[in-house]
Order: sequence, then structure tokens, then C-alpha cells
Amino acid sequence: MLEIRDLSLSVSIEGQRVEAISGVSLQLKQGRVLGLVGESGCGKSLTSQAVLRLGEHQGVGKTGGDILLDGQSLFAMPDETLRKMRGGRISMIFQEPMTALNPVFSIGSQITEVIRLHLDMSPQHATERAIELLADVGMQDAEQILKQYPDALSGGMRQRVLIAMAMAADPDYIIADEPTTALDVSVQKRIIALLLNLQKKRNLGLLLVTHDFGLVAELCDDVAVMYAGQIVESGPVADIFDHPAHPYTRALMGCRPEVSEAGQGLPVIAGQVPPPGRWPIGCHFAERCPLAQGDCVQPVVEDAWRCREHTARCLHVNTAEAVNVI
Ligand SMILES: Nc1ncnc2c1ncn2[C@@H]1O[C@H](COP(=O)(O)OP(=O)(O)OP(=O)(O)O)[C@@H](O)[C@H]1O
Ligand SMILES: [Mg+2]
Repeated sequence: MLEIRDLSLSVSIEGQRVEAISGVSLQLKQGRVLGLVGESGCGKSLTSQAVLRLGEHQGVGKTGGDILLDGQSLFAMPDETLRKMRGGRISMIFQEPMTALNPVFSIGSQITEVIRLHLDMSPQHATERAIELLADVGMQDAEQILKQYPDALSGGMRQRVLIAMAMAADPDYIIADEPTTALDVSVQKRIIALLLNLQKKRNLGLLLVTHDFGLVAELCDDVAVMYAGQIVESGPVADIFDHPAHPYTRALMGCRPEVSEAGQGLPVIAGQVPPPGRWPIGCHFAERCPLAQGDCVQPVVEDAWRCREHTARCLHVNTAEAVNVI
């Protein structure tokens, strides 16, 4: 199991160290898909990159908590073990495939490099494996593709290459940070279907970071909703869809295209996510929440509500359900 336990991260903003992730806990099991959702700037990428300890060279520092892979702390791992773990046991697929591929190397040399980094293979075997991997991600003329450079491929093809690279060393976990947002809608669907297919076939644990609640409903087993550096609600997907507990989750669900009225445009939640360093005291969502009361702006609002695996960081869940505000 891959477990983020009470993780806090700080970043530098205008010369100040400020908390950007606050006490985040998530569990990702093999064979399961966990959706991480929230508006832009909530901390989804910081959280998911922390799993590979990326971001540290961009001034992101851990201030508390831990990340454990099968019980072993990633922060206590020697560099060599960490290097092998990246791509070997846990791989990442990024939002913008062009930034993850090097424009000056052929697709073949980039895939075989990843293969040879993790698996002890001759160049010839690595090329054979690269061809297999490209076939696995639905690229027919794999031998041709290996000779090409990234800018000769479409966005969807590049994303397939990145998925192939992520699969190169047969990892147990994949972290996919908005893997399809840069693509056309029809291509998005195919890439997501491909990812899910591989997830099932290889019993991967998949952390799927997305803005799209519709996608979560379709694909995920579990959901974590993030707001201003915290997980505000988490639980099995059916529980959250049938009984969203946190007013923020309800608001996000109300913004799905399929529930908004035709011709009305997409509803948006009024106001903005406060950036790190500007979080209010108490509930981070209180200033945008129609249910906020005096106790919401007191210093601590923990996971105040729990029903089996389903938790919400809100003091007024029962009122929210009764009133059905959003
Ligand atoms: N290296 C950094 N230094 C300073 N601030 C950062 C850094 N990385 C992220 N932030 C800030 O932390 C907050 C969370 O950023 P993050 O990229 O994790 O959000 P996100 O949920 O992934 O958003 P999006 O949906 O737009 O990708 C934002 O306010 C962002 O500006
Ligand atoms: Mg992001």
C-alpha cells in the first residue's frame, strides 16, 4: 500500500515559508483507483508530486507527516533506493506530455533509456520491450514511432508514449496528474479508457488527479476532495455521490456539465481558493460557504463528521444534508 500520512508541505512565497499542504492523509491500494479532485490551486499537484519526492528542488519542503510505501518511509530511503522506486514501483504521468518528453531525443531512445534504467536488458531487448509497450498502449506501427521525435506526434500519441514509459518497469502504482486536460475531448476519452484498461490488467493502484467530477464518478473506487491544502472529504465513490457531505463537495458536484442546465453555461463557485499563506483560521472554505457559522472560524475544524469510511471536515454536515443548500 502507498500511504500519505498526515503530510504537511511548505513552499516559499515572496520570501516567506508558508504552509501549502496541511495534514493530508490518503491511502492508495493496488487494484484501486483513487480520485483526487478540487479546483485549481488546491494543492493536488503538490500532493501527488510529493509521492515521488518531486518538487523538492522547487522549494517544496516537508514540515510534517510521512509517505510510506509498504510501510517504508520514502523520506528515510537512501537516494539509490528512491531512484529505483521512481518509475520502478511508482510512476507518474504528467498533464503536459511535451514537457515530460525531451524534444531532442527520439521516442525510441527515451523509452529504452527508461527500460534500461530499471531493467537489466541489452539494447536489443530494450528495443523489443519498447515495441511491446507501444503496442500495449495502442500504437500499431511501433517500429516507425520509435524513430520519430516528440514534435512529430500528436498530443494524444505523445500521451500514449508517456503511458508506455510509465509502464516500462511494471510499476505497482501510477500517479496521473490531470493526464488528459491538454487533449481534445474525444482523445481524452480514449486515453482514459487505455489507462483504466492497463490499471485493471496489471492490478495497479492509480491516483487520478482531476478537475472533473464526472470522470471520478465513472472511474474511481474512492475519492478525496481537496480544498486549500486540506482533504475536506474522502470515502468510497458511491457514498460521496449519493451523500456528498461537505458543502464544497456539493458545490463541485453542482458544477458538473451534466447537472447544469442546458444553455446556462457551467455554474461556478463564487469566490476563489485562498493561496498558501492566506488561509483563513478554522475551516478554509468558510468564507465561500453558505452554511458557515461562528464555530467554523474557530481555530480547529478537524474531520468532524464520519460515517464508516466516509469522512468530512465540516461541523455542519447534518445541516447541509437537511437544507440541501447547494
Ligand atoms: N514550488 C512552489 N512554490 C510556491 N508556491 C507553489 C509551488 N507549487 C505550488 N505552489 C502554490 O501552491 C498552491 C497549490 O498548487 P498546486 O499546483 O498543487 O495546485 P493544483 O491543485 O494542482 O492546481 P491545478 O488544478 O491548477 O493544477 C497554489 O497556490 C500554487 O501557486
Ligand atoms: Mg495541478
